[in-house]
Amino acid sequence: MTGTGGISLAGPVLVTGAASGIGKAIVGRLTPEVAVLAVDRDVAGLARLHGEFGDSVHAVPGDLMEANAIDDLIERAWDLAGSIRGVVNCAGIYPVTPMLEMSIAEWDQVLALNLRAPFAVMRSVVQRMIDAKVGGSIVNVSSSASRLARPGIAHYGASKAGLNQLTANAAIEWAPHGIRVNAIAPGLIATENVMKYARAAGQAEHEAKLARIPIGREGQPEELVDLVQFLLSDASSYCTGGVFPADGGLTLGIPSY
Ligand SMILES: NC(=O)c1ccc[n+]([C@@H]2O[C@H](COP(=O)([O-])OP(=O)(O)OC[C@H]3O[C@@H](n4cnc5c(N)ncnc54)[C@H](O)[C@@H]3O)[C@@H](O)[C@H]2O)c1
Repeated sequence: MTGTGGISLAGPVLVTGAASGIGKAIVGRLTPEVAVLAVDRDVAGLARLHGEFGDSVHAVPGDLMEANAIDDLIERAWDLAGSIRGVVNCAGIYPVTPMLEMSIAEWDQVLALNLRAPFAVMRSVVQRMIDAKVGGSIVNVSSSASRLARPGIAHYGASKAGLNQLTANAAIEWAPHGIRVNAIAPGLIATENVMKYARAAGQAEHEAKLARIPIGREGQPEELVDLVQFLLSDASSYCTGGVFPADGGLTLGIPSY
């Protein structure tokens, strides 16, 4: 099967967090050439996705915080498409709470969705790939926050740093099966949700954030999708275990004297 841009993708791709933001942009890039299994807890958002992108989108509603339901969800997805050859673990939450005010419940929620769910999704898909004797490619959506500490995001930063290392371990374990695992680490990406935070924080704080980005602006979700498609495709056949920054240079250092 051929993806847009002439890059070859092996077959159906499962995208979590598909109903909005970065996940939705990735769905838009892959369809209609590739069948997409769109996973999200936002059922109305999945219906809109189908309306916008058509029949190559298969909605797979589910809550990825429910670890014990993930294997059933993947079985449903696999049966819908007959196979899964690519995965994008994009669902994530990013609440901002100083550590001394952070409840155990909030910590657990962030880790459950941002770190445990990608593990459970990968484990379930990869077992089926191995049983079906097919290879595949997995892309985990990490964050610049996996490397840059910032007040209020201890749980988020820890979850994304964990996701980087999970990516490396998965890459090593599954390379013999022809399954590659990489991550992307976006910086400040102007999704609706992020811009809601930015508006709440005020213009001055937003401009201070932009001043720390060498490229001098936030990125758009559409600026990540070619990288994701590249990592899903055979064009990246010698890449595994990598964490690819897409952050306008944010994590390089301090962009002023
Ligand atoms: N936007 C940024 O600046 C940025 C930067 C770095 C990394 N990221 C990462 O990119 C990913 C997407 O971010 P975004 O800004 O597009 O977010 P978003 O809020 O726009 O989209 C997240 C999607 O995940 C879904 N979701 C949330 N909880 C879920 C659950 N329990 N089960 C199933 N689905 C669930 C939501 O319904 C939503 O559709 C996240 O993992 C985030 O950490 C975002």
